[in-house]
Amino acid sequence: MIRVTFLTNDAKVVEAPEGGSLLRLSIRHQGGIPFKCGGGLCGTCRCRIESGIEHCDAIKDKERRHLTEADFASGHRMACQTSINGDVSVSWVRPEDRPPGTPGAKTR
Ligand code: FES
Repeated sequence: MIRVTFLTNDAKVVEAPEGGSLLRLSIRHQGGIPFKCGGGLCGTCRCRIESGIEHCDAIKDKERRHLTEADFASGHRMACQTSINGDVSVSWVRPEDRPPGTPGAKTR
């Protein structure tokens, strides 16, 4: 079992079998990572792996459409495109705090 800490969701901790996408795990356990398409298209599931980046699988081409090398260097990934095989802590910008026009932004 692996432990995933959803920092932006009051540091909720979930234990789950390894494998499968971070977004799927978040949905199944109410982790709270924002999403829309689930398929690497919309950019909504942008998140930051605060610890455990070494437990994430390789960066996908779909992620490169939404994230820069600087983003990757600072731990950003697309949750729907990232499988995890060990403990990670993840944070994200809440939709209401995202700049208008960016993926997943919520208009007030
Ligand atoms: S949910 Fe749309 S890119 Fe991940």
